[in-house]
Amino acid sequence: RKQLLSLMIHLLFLGSILCFPKSNLCVQPPTVQLLTTKSLWFSSSQLSSKCNGSEAAIITQKNTPLGSKIVFDGERWRTHQVDQGMFNNFAKENPFPKKKWHTCAVVGNSGILGNSNCGKMIDSAQFVIRCNLPPLTDEYKKDVGIKTNLVTANPTIFLRKYGGLNGRRLPLMEKLRIYGNSLLLLPPFSFAMNTAVSLRVLYTIEDFGGPVQPVFINPDYLYNVSLFWRSQGLKAVRPSTGIIMASLALELCENVDLYGFWPFAVHPYNFHELSNHYYDDQKVTSFHAMPVEFKLLLQLHSQGVLRMNLGDCE
Ligand code: CTP
Repeated sequence: RKQLLSLMIHLLFLGSILCFPKSNLCVQPPTVQLLTTKSLWFSSSQLSSKCNGSEAAIITQKNTPLGSKIVFDGERWRTHQVDQGMFNNFAKENPFPKKKWHTCAVVGNSGILGNSNCGKMIDSAQFVIRCNLPPLTDEYKKDVGIKTNLVTANPTIFLRKYGGLNGRRLPLMEKLRIYGNSLLLLPPFSFAMNTAVSLRVLYTIEDFGGPVQPVFINPDYLYNVSLFWRSQGLKAVRPSTGIIMASLALELCENVDLYGFWPFAVHPYNFHELSNHYYDDQKVTSFHAMPVEFKLLLQLHSQGVLRMNLGDCE
């Protein structure tokens, strides 16, 4: 049954894509490339002109002046007028350099990373992006690495695991230590329920003195990314953190490698059953359409726009 399921996944999503497990290289025969590329027309200049991630992904005092009205991306009817107190929380400068990084790795949290041995390859990228405060303990280092330059945080994590920061704050600071001085991407203006908890995280980090650097993701950017992918056929309620980070990397980096993007229950090569995450089996929210996202990203792989790494590493 497992082999049949895996075969179906291959036919539906991978076509006859061929991957060489030890070299982590995947290729598609030209006929399949034609079939898969026809439906997605991707241009990185179009992505940049629609989203302008390198300038606008992070809220700064320059792109969001005092008095401006922020529109929440998840609740478009809701706005927040920026007063002096809020303005002081914004990054003074854009944290992204003008020059693109040569190599970036975006690490999703799929169970496919378990026993992948990909830690070294991930850590060899100049800029490493991780999603949703993933564990990087010794147990996982070999497979997922440790280097982190940017890590996202979904506020439900703070509510579920850290009591919304209404009580003790040290456990969160201990958790964040593993990400060094990376950027911590918070979304205070996606939904109203995110604002207060995101601010509490920011104040906690400031009071304890880092070393992570909290920044706010710009809801305009999130909205534009979601419109961009919608125009490419993604009809989900919201794009997942993974595809948003892949989009950002496509604007910030010359070469983008994706790891841990595999929203299926069976490994594509060894047919082993997989948990949803490399660290637990918590299920996907119904907001997202990860298999559709995966198909879009795989088409970008076949066009040479990015590299989707599915096999094990050396
Ligand atoms: N992912 C994947 N396959 C999985 C699990 C995750 O491709 N089996 C990718 C998705 O792009 C996802 C990202 O890895 O957004 C991070 O995973 P996770 O923390 O599980 O994200 P979600 O909580 O599901 O998504 P979001 O934060 O967008 O709500």
